[in-house]
Amino acid sequence: MKEATIRFIGVLRGDITDLADTPKMYTESSRTGTLEIYPQYRDGLDGIQAGRKIVVLFWLHKAARDVLKVYPRGDKSRGLHGVFATRSPMRPNPIAISELTVTAVHGNFIEVSGLDILDGTPIIDIKKKI
Ligand SMILES: C[S@@+](CC[C@H](N)C(=O)[O-])C[C@H]1O[C@@H](n2cnc3c(N)ncnc32)[C@H](O)[C@@H]1O
Repeated sequence: MKEATIRFIGVLRGDITDLADTPKMYTESSRTGTLEIYPQYRDGLDGIQAGRKIVVLFWLHKAARDVLKVYPRGDKSRGLHGVFATRSPMRPNPIAISELTVTAVHGNFIEVSGLDILDGTPIIDIKKKI
């Protein structure tokens, strides 16, 4: 098996609209936004509550997919690294993993903080943080 189809479960709504203004990592971010989960997946949200941390997988729709070497954080003094040895958004499958804090849940909308992701980014999955 060499490929599969992903069905996005929702989309991020936030106020980060400029890549240059996007925090580099969720550990360094207090930016807030809303995970809009499509209604057909609403039952899968039961148990997600304010105060919990969740792991969210995003599809970085504006990232280059033909890059295999990067300077981590754009710092040339660190030398080139293979993308699989970094958290670079550029990679063949531009999947991001962010640990976010849930601040509220309203139906199929989850308010979160800690975002390092652009407005409009598709959501692949949500998991419990362990
Ligand atoms: C370094 S990645 C880390 C993402 C995730 N926390 C991870 O570790 O997989 C975060 C950067 O991805 C970029 N980014 C965020 N959303 C994006 C999108 N939709 N398309 C392309 N790049 C994006 C921004 O430059 C942001 O600073």
